[in-house]
Amino acid sequence: MKTAIVYYSMSGNCQYAAKSVARRTGADLIRIEPEKAYPDSGFKKYFWGGKSAVMGDMPALKPYEFDADKYERVIFCFPVWAGNVTPPIRTFISENRDGLKGKRLAALVCHSGGGGEKPIAKLKAMLGVTELEAELDLIDPRDKSDSSKDKALEEFCKGLE
Ligand SMILES: Cc1cc2nc3c(=O)[nH]c(=O)nc-3n(C[C@H](O)[C@H](O)[C@H](O)COP(=O)(O)O)c2cc1C
Repeated sequence: MKTAIVYYSMSGNCQYAAKSVARRTGADLIRIEPEKAYPDSGFKKYFWGGKSAVMGDMPALKPYEFDADKYERVIFCFPVWAGNVTPPIRTFISENRDGLKGKRLAALVCHSGGGGEKPIAKLKAMLGVTELEAELDLIDPRDKSDSSKDKALEEFCKGLE
């Protein structure tokens, strides 16, 4: 079964998690990025990213390749921003609503301690589903890497088999 991991990562933690899952499962990595990058340092980073998440923005994305017909499963991997789904993922879902219908769906969420329950619930609502095939939230898996996170990623992949 072919899987796509659609991810956004500002500072590398989600990229680390997405790559780890791709390595274990052979999934394709599809990185999405906003056309206009968010500030990635200092106060501006939290102010503009947080505001955009709270406002429910859907920023225009740089061109990406996603042929929905190729995939049976899509894993969304994104950092939590202000307890919410990161805006570029919101754009992707809106642009691919038809293509995502009937796919197996999973979520891999990174945060710095606030938890993944709320953003995953929001993701489900955006996707119009009540269940995901697998879900995992991790605290900064690259910046604060430890063996328990690698184990959790391994278990997440097993849940997809
Ligand atoms: C704008 C912004 C808002 C954030 N909001 C939250 C939050 O509400 N809860 C939380 O636990 N972490 C929050 N974080 C931390 C990130 O979710 C976390 O560090 C994540 O691992 C970063 O992933 P990345 O390195 O792939 O960008 C926020 C980070 C940014 C930049």
